[in-house]
Amino acid sequence: MSAVVGHAWVGSVRRAPSGALIVRPSFDTMLLNGRPWALLSEYVENWTNLYDWEFRAADLDEVADADIAGLTSTIRKLSENCVREWVDNIVTLILESRPSRLLELGCGTGLLLRHLYDRIGCYVGADVSRYAVDRIRSARLPRAHAVIAGAHDIDSGQIKRAMSDVMGAGQRPDCVLINNVAQCFPSTEYLASVLSRAIDLVEDDGRVILGDLRHLGLCDEYLDWLVLDEELGSGRFRNEEELFVDPRLIAYFAEIADREVKVSVRAKCMSGDNEITRYRYDMVLYVDAKNEKLTTREMRWEDLSGDRLAALSLLAKVGPVVVTEIPNALLDSRPDSVTANALSAVLEGTGLVVAMSHETPTRLEVRPAGGDIPKTRSMPPRDEPLKRFAARRLPELLRGHLAETFPGARLPEIIVEP
Ligand SMILES: C[S@@+](CC[C@H](N)C(=O)[O-])C[C@H]1O[C@@H](n2cnc3c(N)ncnc32)[C@H](O)[C@@H]1O
Repeated sequence: MSAVVGHAWVGSVRRAPSGALIVRPSFDTMLLNGRPWALLSEYVENWTNLYDWEFRAADLDEVADADIAGLTSTIRKLSENCVREWVDNIVTLILESRPSRLLELGCGTGLLLRHLYDRIGCYVGADVSRYAVDRIRSARLPRAHAVIAGAHDIDSGQIKRAMSDVMGAGQRPDCVLINNVAQCFPSTEYLASVLSRAIDLVEDDGRVILGDLRHLGLCDEYLDWLVLDEELGSGRFRNEEELFVDPRLIAYFAEIADREVKVSVRAKCMSGDNEITRYRYDMVLYVDAKNEKLTTREMRWEDLSGDRLAALSLLAKVGPVVVTEIPNALLDSRPDSVTANALSAVLEGTGLVVAMSHETPTRLEVRPAGGDIPKTRSMPPRDEPLKRFAARRLPELLRGHLAETFPGARLPEIIVEP
């Protein structure tokens, strides 16, 4: 037992009557700023290897967009049209605030960069995958730099130097983009750390955009939905170590930030019924925003009479309005339910956007862009994939350690306690 107790990843050990060792991981190894953080870096490395492999495989297939290839692969099973619509959707969201200096954390092979380059001033991308960064570098875009760095390196020397080179000395980004990456983050602490530094970094009236978050409140439903898909194979995703995020958690981080941050939770306004349109959402954080507060009328969906969509269309043309408690047709079968896509079609050009209720994920809302969900000072529900990773990884690691320490000995079963 002492050989296990002494291991850096182990907090405590006790022996079960069966002889198995019951191990509690050391939470110090999970701390971003604690030492050692071996478990955490192995977690990040796992994702690095996975994406390196995925990007390389896509390249071998000679697919133009390696990221698109990843998304259309058998794992996600999204059609190419769907992925193109998804790209248009996030690009529109980013351009909503007309950014000039963009920092993208977890930039991949530059899928979004390619769509944004002609419409922004300059760009710095950071990614843990060397292969992804090399792909961006090989495009030799003069106003874009890419560096091999984790999101947690946001205020590292190399990201600062890259920003200084393309943005100019002392310039800060007016948009920090973290799109379709937070699911790879190991823990809430990691997300909090990245987010608070992104909020500190961005220029006044700038934005931090968290795209494609997986909704914690819909996590069980999402996993059940995947299991129903026979082609994907039941249970395949049960052990997947992805971070799910409750939008109220981001509102909480916004509240405890040192700057004034408004928060908008956006529904995915795309056609189709798939993993993205059902279970993902985007968040826009407006940092020290200059926009003035609008006076809005507020009503519930059920207060609109007759054809509610037509009524909303008329109402939206008159002026800013907030409509709440709209059942999302992809997640709620009530007869008056409607999709985010149908709502967004009638809101075009009105300055109103389709939001997701921060409290009830199956409900949509219509709101002026600009963000104003209530803040909270108590910690909302949170997800900790690193703990799932530890439960999976520790037994094999400790058995390896014991086999090395006591060659030939019979190894005990190892059970990890949360
Ligand atoms: C699904 S791709 C998204 C790429 C790009 N943001 C987009 O929307 O097309 C996820 C990327 O995040 C990177 N990644 C994963 N964990 C990361 C971390 N902790 N820090 C920085 N990048 C990370 C992966 O290497 C991969 O390139």
